[in-house]
Amino acid sequence: MFKSRSSKKLSGQRSRVLRERANLSFFIVVMFFAVFGVIVLTEIFLIDERGRGAGVLLRNGGRRRGDKPDYEDAQSILQGEDYLVYRGAGFDYNFGVFVREDHGGLIEGVNHAGARMLPAGRAGSDPSDNLRAMQEANIAAKGGVPAGVESRLPGHNITAKDGVWQIVSGTRFKFFVFSAFYDQREERSIRIVGATKTRGPERVWCRLWYGNTTSTTHSVSLAAKVKVIRENWNLKYSACFILCPLQQNLSAPHSVSIVSRLRLPPANHLLVRNADWDPDLRNASAGIPDRMAVCVKPIHFNYNQALQMLEFLELNSILGVHHFTLYNDTLGPQVGCILQDYVSHGIVTLLPWQLNMVSQKEIRTEGLFAALNDCLYRSMYRYSYAALVDLDEYIIPRHNDTLPQLVKWLGTRLNTRTTGSYSFQNAFFYLQWGDDPSIAKSTDMTEIGLVTLRKTRRRSKLHPHKQRSKYLCRPEFVVEAGNHFIWEFVPGHGTLNVPPDAAILHHYRVCEFGGNDCIKTASVVDHTAYRYKERLLERVKSKWKDLKAKCNLPELSYHQTMPQTVAPLNNNTKSKLQPLKAVVKQS
Ligand SMILES: *[C@@H]1O[C@H](CO)[C@@H](O)[C@H](O)[C@H]1NC(C)=O
Ligand SMILES: *[C@@H]1O[C@H](CO)[C@@H](O)[C@H](O)[C@H]1NC(C)=O
Ligand SMILES: *[C@@H]1O[C@H](CO)[C@@H](O)[C@H](O)[C@H]1NC(C)=O
Ligand SMILES: *[C@@H]1O[C@H](CO)[C@@H](O)[C@H](O)[C@H]1NC(C)=O
Ligand SMILES: *[C@@H]1O[C@H](CO)[C@@H](O)[C@H](O)[C@H]1NC(C)=O
Ligand SMILES: *[C@@H]1O[C@H](CO)[C@@H](O)[C@H](O)[C@H]1NC(C)=O
Ligand SMILES: *[C@@H]1O[C@H](CO)[C@@H](O)[C@H](O)[C@H]1NC(C)=O
Repeated sequence: MFKSRSSKKLSGQRSRVLRERANLSFFIVVMFFAVFGVIVLTEIFLIDERGRGAGVLLRNGGRRRGDKPDYEDAQSILQGEDYLVYRGAGFDYNFGVFVREDHGGLIEGVNHAGARMLPAGRAGSDPSDNLRAMQEANIAAKGGVPAGVESRLPGHNITAKDGVWQIVSGTRFKFFVFSAFYDQREERSIRIVGATKTRGPERVWCRLWYGNTTSTTHSVSLAAKVKVIRENWNLKYSACFILCPLQQNLSAPHSVSIVSRLRLPPANHLLVRNADWDPDLRNASAGIPDRMAVCVKPIHFNYNQALQMLEFLELNSILGVHHFTLYNDTLGPQVGCILQDYVSHGIVTLLPWQLNMVSQKEIRTEGLFAALNDCLYRSMYRYSYAALVDLDEYIIPRHNDTLPQLVKWLGTRLNTRTTGSYSFQNAFFYLQWGDDPSIAKSTDMTEIGLVTLRKTRRRSKLHPHKQRSKYLCRPEFVVEAGNHFIWEFVPGHGTLNVPPDAAILHHYRVCEFGGNDCIKTASVVDHTAYRYKERLLERVKSKWKDLKAKCNLPELSYHQTMPQTVAPLNNNTKSKLQPLKAVVKQS
């Protein structure tokens, strides 16, 4: 540097350069403050992406402060055999003494402000997050983002669909949506069934589309609330509800998209199911038809037990079920063909279930809680009752012929006006127990193949309610359905524990802990299902004949129909069914 003294000329040049540099620095500082000002203003007016810096101007690779990259390590599921032990926020609990881990109800306002920052999931401790939640609530209260902003947002260019998994683009973690329902109970909202991160789900926006053609479409955009479904087994991903509150007199949109950033063109487009628009559905004068529906969790592993499927559909139909909703993860060819036949008769709704999450590792059993809750809302106003059962489970009334008769009779004994669900205790009919004696004499391969006829021995001890129990619910009184009980009712509704002498859940399966030891437990012979024997055989045989060629169904043989039993039926242990209990408890 000192060398420069030797040349004045050079030094003059240098000082000019330095001056220019100083000017440039000044310019940069001014620019910096200008940009900073814009960022602050953007933040204040919140026209884009809450919690991500200032959206378009300050991209930071989508990484948000406080965002834990993964909670995978924290995951631990102990599937303790009969009792499903959860590892919650620092304590263990099981179905018997249930403590609710309330991800969904963390904050009553908008979104999970704070939930994403704290592994324990406790919200509202960060005042700035609460402030943001309030700002978002304001936007929602005004019925969406300001009109000037709304008009500059991209439109949609995909056809609206219902009942198919679609992606929410631009999120850091997997985020999918399946169906949308107009829920007018309590807070009016569009309720979307989806799947996303269990802990700290990412924030998303609702784009509500009004008008059903491209030329008539206008949109309203507002902040969504994500409520993670409570039964999530603490896995990384979970079924969820995404709620778009319809504030003030915002009417129900025709369709909706969920976006991670308002400026992104939507990657999904969901048709809103709205009972008011569906000619089949309830309106003020018509009331809900007195019909019963069955919901079954996604069918997987190329399930192809044709006879079991026919038994399930036909026995439930005899029991008074009008409609079945099933989800096709992977179906075997024969069962697929049988179901298509029932679909063509309007008895079955079969929805595709291609959810891009790893079952049991990322999400519980193909995201079954999304399916169960989708079916709950899909059945609402269409059916007065919905049973959420598996293919090896049957709710069998003891004295009544059908489930509607049972429900009606319970209504004469108790005030069931507000009953939101009827719970039935589980009885295992272990497949390893010997066949019913009548089966040994039978040469009728259909009879031999029907599990409800072949297996008549069951555990004498029933599981208590909420453990393995299943239920029949009145969908319009339910907010959130679980596998064995209802997690959330519309206020003022609850569960009626149906006494076992009125009906129980017949559950046909192998020992739940593996091995064959389960058959040593005390058992009784229960022929209740034989009430349906003749009708069931007739219907199943007729269907088998009809579909045999079309669905390439095999000749029935002893080995095809069921796994080999290991124990002969010991008729000495036969004992009486439990006597009638007078007390019916309503909780
Ligand atoms: C919809 O728009 C996106 C982005 O503008 C484009 O990539 C995509 O091809 C469009 N899809 C259709 C079906 O036009
Ligand atoms: C759009 O809505 C109008 C009026 O509600 C209706 O007549 C028309 O059939 C609808 N078109 C489509 C494609 O849904
Ligand atoms: C509510 O509806 C009235 C009349 O239809 C309309 O004038 C008003 O702007 C609406 N308010 C909001 C917030 O949408
Ligand atoms: C409501 O139901 C009644 C009786 O079934 C029917 O006559 C009427 O058209 C329905 N109204 C609407 C809006 O669908
Ligand atoms: C079930 O889903 C698979 C995979 O998407 C599909 O190939 C098959 O055709 C579906 N079966 C039926 C009966 O819809
Ligand atoms: C249902 O069962 C009860 C209890 O046994 C009986 O009193 C009632 O008559 C039955 N109702 C019908 C319709 O079968
Ligand atoms: C009952 O037990 C007796 C003697 O143990 C046996 O002869 C008979 O076949 C059994 N009955 C049935 C129906 O299995």
